[in-house]
Amino acid sequence: MRFSLGALAAIFPLAVALPQITRSGKYLYDPSGARFYIKGVAYQPQGNLAVSTTANEVNGGFPEPSDFVDPLSSATNCTRDIPYLKQLGVNAVRVYSVNASLNHDSCMSALDAAGIYVLLDVSLPLNGSIDRASPSWTTSLLNEYTRTVNAFNKYPNILAYNIGNEVINTVNNSNAAPFVKAAARDTKAYLRSIGSKALVGYAAVDTDLDFRNALADYLTCGNDSVSVDLYGLNNYEWCGQATYSTSGWNTITQGFSNLTVAAYMSEFGCITAGPRLWTEIPALLSSPVSDVFSGGIAFSYFPTSDDYGMVTFSADGSTVTVNSDFTALGRQYLNATGPNSPAQSSQSNAALACPASSPILAAGTNLPPTPNQEVCDCINKNALPCTAIPATANNPIKVGALINEACGLLANSNSTITCTAIAGDGLTGVYGPLAMCAPDIKLNYVMSAYYDANPVATSCDFGGNATLSTSPLGAEAAQSAAASCLAGKPPTFTPTASEPPTTPSGSSSSPATTSSHKPSSGRLGSLLPTSSVATLLLGAVGFFAGAAVAIA
Ligand SMILES: *[C@@H]1O[C@H](CO)[C@@H](O)[C@H](O)[C@H]1NC(C)=O
Ligand SMILES: *[C@@H]1O[C@H](CO)[C@@H](O)[C@H](O)[C@H]1NC(C)=O
Ligand SMILES: *[C@@H]1O[C@H](CO)[C@@H](O)[C@H](O)[C@H]1NC(C)=O
Ligand SMILES: *[C@@H]1O[C@H](CO)[C@@H](O)[C@H](O)[C@H]1NC(C)=O
Ligand SMILES: *[C@@H]1O[C@H](CO)[C@@H](O)[C@H](O)[C@H]1NC(C)=O
Ligand SMILES: *[C@@H]1O[C@H](CO)[C@@H](O)[C@H](O)[C@H]1NC(C)=O
Ligand SMILES: *[C@@H]1O[C@H](CO)[C@@H](O)[C@H](O)[C@H]1NC(C)=O
Ligand SMILES: *[C@@H]1O[C@H](CO)[C@@H](O)[C@H](O)[C@H]1NC(C)=O
Ligand SMILES: *[C@@H]1O[C@H](CO)[C@@H](O)[C@H](O)[C@H]1NC(C)=O
Repeated sequence: MRFSLGALAAIFPLAVALPQITRSGKYLYDPSGARFYIKGVAYQPQGNLAVSTTANEVNGGFPEPSDFVDPLSSATNCTRDIPYLKQLGVNAVRVYSVNASLNHDSCMSALDAAGIYVLLDVSLPLNGSIDRASPSWTTSLLNEYTRTVNAFNKYPNILAYNIGNEVINTVNNSNAAPFVKAAARDTKAYLRSIGSKALVGYAAVDTDLDFRNALADYLTCGNDSVSVDLYGLNNYEWCGQATYSTSGWNTITQGFSNLTVAAYMSEFGCITAGPRLWTEIPALLSSPVSDVFSGGIAFSYFPTSDDYGMVTFSADGSTVTVNSDFTALGRQYLNATGPNSPAQSSQSNAALACPASSPILAAGTNLPPTPNQEVCDCINKNALPCTAIPATANNPIKVGALINEACGLLANSNSTITCTAIAGDGLTGVYGPLAMCAPDIKLNYVMSAYYDANPVATSCDFGGNATLSTSPLGAEAAQSAAASCLAGKPPTFTPTASEPPTTPSGSSSSPATTSSHKPSSGRLGSLLPTSSVATLLLGAVGFFAGAAVAIA
């Protein structure tokens, strides 16, 4: 039976897939070659801050949400909100936390039909992000990122995936930078392998200028396989009737002027100087700022506990009331068009040379290897006699505590093995061969090494958290089994996902700033980490040799 095109369209409204936005050199372009500017708003309900003093706070971060609501999973809410997003004149939303298991078809296609792209953070609260206090880039994080990519790959209006938000926020945790860059490298390789052209971004905290510039250089330097495509700055310095020079945007623009990739304000919207008039928007979308930045994301559509929100909802959630910040933002966005220059043909994809580690940004140029599930599983299955019981393995807090306990016992034993094998050092660029493995496998490794040094059953108890395999290998046999799992494995490769991605349906992507004018999306919830893997003790070299990958 044949349907006329008209009849089909009535049944299935033809999706008007938004065109792919690409990066050429420092700028974003649409397929006609016109420059594309992000005119966006943050779209993420605030999570609950269940614990007042989290490990993250102790380590210089902000309090982390312990939960999140996936704003792209409710058709009812998106239907409620999209008319307001259109009133704001936005062409993009930034979403910080989604649940890859839920269905996003309805919201994503409604946003697409409204001409709205999505910049999606792929990290999640707590153990779903790179932990600045004890950074690692592991199979579990890589799998989480690829699961989210797989869930969103079919939507044409994904502009970018953000691989982290404000992970690195002082020189004291700049050793986390190589892990973030490795996450960008591996996510980009994965995207390319599934035919996705979505960009890969990072959203940085705003700090003092030397650190701000050094981090931007670090994460965007090197060739296209390792550089972040879209560098975001969460900035709240333009307050009230500030100007280009009084806001400090002059220094920021100058500082980012030699980036070779696109930059944007991944959050902006200071609230300290009265109702917001958003006078930064005409500046953002004109030269000289537009020579360096390609727009930004105003913070925030949803209410926040510290008054950054621009709408409120009726008690039953069905109706929306807007405030004066909302009205002013819409007026500015609808009146602003960035200059359509320079031409795409003038752009080359030159690479910025990677800076050496310095007192400003203490981060090595060796990146950690691509997390290799096959190697980790092989070692876990064949070489580790002492393993955590499932209830413990699934509890990140217990795993962190037990790794510390077992590393302490191991250090005081006569074992030649130390926790170096599970540790990665972003400053020296030395990564233990199990540094890329999931926390529970790292725990099994350390408990097993302790057991091998003291091979009696009570050495593999750990308060009822672990069990001994029925016929454990001796220490030497275990080491050689582990070595054979590692043999011949390349340090970097294109990751695969456990489940295949869905194919595109259309044609063809934290605030704890140390800045004076706050908030950031960390509040909302992509960020980080509690002490899921607590600080690891470093000791002498274990039997594994470290693998490292150079950038630059
Ligand atoms: C994601 O949604 C699934 C299905 O509702 C639920 O079981 C799971 O707990 C959710 N995960 C997170 C991290 O919220
Ligand atoms: C975080 O911990 C939960 C268990 O609480 C686990 O299911 C999940 O896989 C972990 N996520 C990552 C990325 O390690
Ligand atoms: C880094 O740590 C040192 C020593 O704890 C401290 O004195 C310094 O203030 C910290 N620097 C920053 C930028 O947090
Ligand atoms: C521009 O790049 C060079 C080379 O990487 C670097 O030395 C310089 O500090 C950068 N300038 C700024 C303003 O960041
Ligand atoms: C939808 O909106 C209601 C009312 O504002 C809110 O309680 C709920 O958490 C939202 N759900 C999602 C998935 O966004
Ligand atoms: C709209 O933008 C133009 C160009 O920047 C500016 O001159 C004008 O004042 C703006 N109009 C309003 C109502 O803000
Ligand atoms: C280490 O000490 C344990 C007893 O505590 C002993 O059984 C084992 O043989 C020792 N191993 C080495 C290599 O000395
Ligand atoms: C497991 O280890 C944790 C952390 O050390 C401890 O609190 C707990 O009592 C242990 N036993 C079990 C069965 O969880
Ligand atoms: C990009 O840089 C990485 C790291 O320096 C290097 O391994 C890789 O071969 C380079 N790729 C290309 C296409 O030049």
